[in-house]
Amino acid sequence: MKKKWLMFGMSAVLSVGLLAACGTGEEDTTTGDTPEDTAAPNTEEVKEVPADAPTLVMGTSADYPPYESVDLATEEIVGFDVDIAKYITSELGYNLEIADMDFNALIPAMEAKRVDFVLAGMTPTEDRKQNVDFSDIYYEATNLIVSKEDGNISSLEDLNGLKVGVQLGSIQEADADALAEEVGFEVVKLNRIPEIMQELLAGRIDAILMEDTVAAGHMEAQGQLVSFEVPSEDELGSAIAFPKGSELVEPFNEKLNELIESGKMDELILKWFDTEE
Ligand code: ARG
Repeated sequence: MKKKWLMFGMSAVLSVGLLAACGTGEEDTTTGDTPEDTAAPNTEEVKEVPADAPTLVMGTSADYPPYESVDLATEEIVGFDVDIAKYITSELGYNLEIADMDFNALIPAMEAKRVDFVLAGMTPTEDRKQNVDFSDIYYEATNLIVSKEDGNISSLEDLNGLKVGVQLGSIQEADADALAEEVGFEVVKLNRIPEIMQELLAGRIDAILMEDTVAAGHMEAQGQLVSFEVPSEDELGSAIAFPKGSELVEPFNEKLNELIESGKMDELILKWFDTEE
């Protein structure tokens, strides 16, 4: 699996408080506190921020390991994106609060200014740029069709007449809609990746269109899955998103670059992704 990250870094110290989430309506929120109880070893390495410092709310959809998921032991949201957020917010002197919601609620949450930024493995598409601003891309990905070994699916044509699952509101939803027209399959749209994976394992759908970076963990956990890459016209990858016109874009980009240049991003990639080819 090839993938490259692009930008930033710097080594930090101490801990940042992950505060209780705010949240309205359907959002789940997570409270966390100290770094030593998380499975994320580097979190003790971020700068200490005074408790009375201002807080930034990060929106995410914690169904996407290794970017973000709920640590079952601590019930905290952990992951690559969380570590990046902790680093940047602590460097900028903010406390961090995380609000977990469905992926397709993230852009509305930014538009309503209920979150200050989003780190959710979100791809900076032209469409989304109409409504939100993005940082530089910090990690790249490709799309895969994942299916069960015994499904004998090894090309797009094999999907003819079958059911393909995607996450609602993701770029994979739009890509699948387009492919469905060419190939002739039904697109099944669900909110959460584990739900979609469950549908595949139960045989209620035949395949999933998802990112390689996230498929890897599921494929490792479920020996019976196979995949092939689906070429995409656009550059895929993840960037931090902000409400349109947010003044955070620049300082976040600067810190993102520091993270890369210091080599700390490499450490995070090693920690959260299998970076071997
Ligand atoms: N990169 C894809 C997109 O931006 C999928 C991201 C899904 N993220 C998540 N946390 N579930 O549409």
